[in-house]
Amino acid sequence: MLLRVLGTAAGGGIPQWNCACPGCSGARAHPGRRRRHASLAVRAGEGRWYLVNATPDIGDQIEAHPDLHPGPGARQTPVAGVVLTDAELDHTLGLWRLREADRLEIVATAPVREAVEDRLRLGEVLTPYTTVTWRELDTRRTVALDSSGSGVRIDAVPVSGKRPRYAAGAPGHDAWVVALRLHDPDTGRTALYAPAVAAWPDALHRAAAEADCVIVDGTFWDDEEPRRTGISPRTATAMGHLPIDGPQGTARILATLPGRCLYTHLNNTNPLLDPAAPEHKELARLGLEVADDTLVIEL
Ligand code: MLT
Ligand code: MN
Ligand code: ZN
Repeated sequence: MLLRVLGTAAGGGIPQWNCACPGCSGARAHPGRRRRHASLAVRAGEGRWYLVNATPDIGDQIEAHPDLHPGPGARQTPVAGVVLTDAELDHTLGLWRLREADRLEIVATAPVREAVEDRLRLGEVLTPYTTVTWRELDTRRTVALDSSGSGVRIDAVPVSGKRPRYAAGAPGHDAWVVALRLHDPDTGRTALYAPAVAAWPDALHRAAAEADCVIVDGTFWDDEEPRRTGISPRTATAMGHLPIDGPQGTARILATLPGRCLYTHLNNTNPLLDPAAPEHKELARLGLEVADDTLVIEL
């Protein structure tokens, strides 16, 4: 199984267009600190890749990775489809950018599909441009990543009922946010991708404990970070992101897992954006890593 990390930033990216915070200003001064919106490409077969989430950076993300470039046919793309972990705007806005495709396959749970179809009106808007097909991610059964049915298998692990703000009035469902367990039957190896973690349910823990590689929501370093930095009156947990550090934090959980563990979806307030921050040493002491936008994982 081959995974290419396409981005590691939370909504807004780093730098965020309207933000002069230290994280964003630091990324303007040091281009190596820039991070695109969190996303992953998973190889489904020879010359076939699925993207996990479609971010506002999707065009640049495809250009930055030669494996995702079109060819040899003039309009032949290796991008076979998009798997959604949730319906948040930072994970779905890129779908509209793929309108030049002959067809666009989207794999998502029922509530995510409903949000994107009924509230964001993707089908209505894209029908004049391309053919959108949906495949359901059902949290009770394993599906093939590739529509051909071969190769990597996916299990959607329910994480939380956190709805996007634009869908605040939509019905509750335990699969508004899922983690993806990606299993390669040929190598027997498993990765778990969980870029939006409002809670750490038992099913997520079991999947994380069995995985060879775990990539987890690292939006905020600590629970008070959004309030301290003035971006929100709410704590990280109240905003739907378990922090990395502290008693509710994910670091102490990840430190007990046998697999390789990395953080993604970093917010621009996160001290980890500064490569010299002491928080990196704390993570290293726990055996944990921060993913970057060029990371390739082979399992
Ligand atoms: C989140 O990760 O909580 C969302 O993407 C926030 C947002 O963009 O509204
Ligand atoms: Mn987000
Ligand atoms: Zn900023």
